[in-house]
Amino acid sequence: MASGKPHASRLVLDGRHYEYVDGSRKEDLSYWARWAETISGPILEAGCGTGRVGYRLAAKGHRVYGVDIAPELLLYGRRHRLGPNMRYVQACMRALPFDIGFTAVIYPYSVFNHNVTDEEALQCLAEAHRVLLPGGEVVLDLINMTDDRACDDADAFLIAYSDPDDVGFIRVSQATRYDGRTRRVWLDRRHLRSDGARASVTLAARFYRLEDVAALAEATGLRVASVAGGYENEELDQDSDVAVIHLRKLA
Ligand SMILES: C[S@@+](CC[C@H](N)C(=O)[O-])C[C@H]1O[C@@H](n2cnc3c(N)ncnc32)[C@H](O)[C@@H]1O
Repeated sequence: MASGKPHASRLVLDGRHYEYVDGSRKEDLSYWARWAETISGPILEAGCGTGRVGYRLAAKGHRVYGVDIAPELLLYGRRHRLGPNMRYVQACMRALPFDIGFTAVIYPYSVFNHNVTDEEALQCLAEAHRVLLPGGEVVLDLINMTDDRACDDADAFLIAYSDPDDVGFIRVSQATRYDGRTRRVWLDRRHLRSDGARASVTLAARFYRLEDVAALAEATGLRVASVAGGYENEELDQDSDVAVIHLRKLA
């Protein structure tokens, strides 16, 4: 997964680095704050990363269980984003270590896109359905992507930041490979530090259309309740960057 000088893997795995690359996202925060005012009861955040969204909801009094597959990110959350209502649990979103009892299961910032096959997506939604109380909701915050746009984004500089251990600067760039047949995408991220240390990681994801989500939901006992093309309830169209889809567990 990583190469280069000793500790180079931390350029990718350490939650502090993740905070620079993904954790600085702000555009969705007011959406989640508004949404949280509409519900009560425990929330399960799947793929919580370092707790960027979940701990803010917990700070408003919600009981939040954040689940992620990456222990390094959970460690950062436990150190920096804890509170009486916030718990971090290492688990896969397709095998949740909980029984029924949640009002909502949420997937902020493209987490659901990391289910790269129909089978994975079905497992994931079936797990959400299993732990949700009757009438509970699922919120998917998906990348909304057309084939043309996926190909346009082939190579990109993402960010440069000061190394948190004061070893100079780090540049992060990303090359994208896309398979239009399966709608799968592979993001090859390269981290290069000014002292020559380097590390790379490949993230796999899949783009979902609304009709794909509706069929997957139907198959798992969930129903599409609302659809938006952004965090301000914009209409979903091919130019939307995200699709925010609410599913409801039938009572
Ligand atoms: C783009 S990040 C989003 C993190 C967080 N939701 C946020 O809004 O900042 C995607 C997250 O999904 C997690 N993830 C990927 N596959 C997963 C799986 N199978 N089960 C649980 N988490 C997963 C990654 O470890 C990462 O933390």
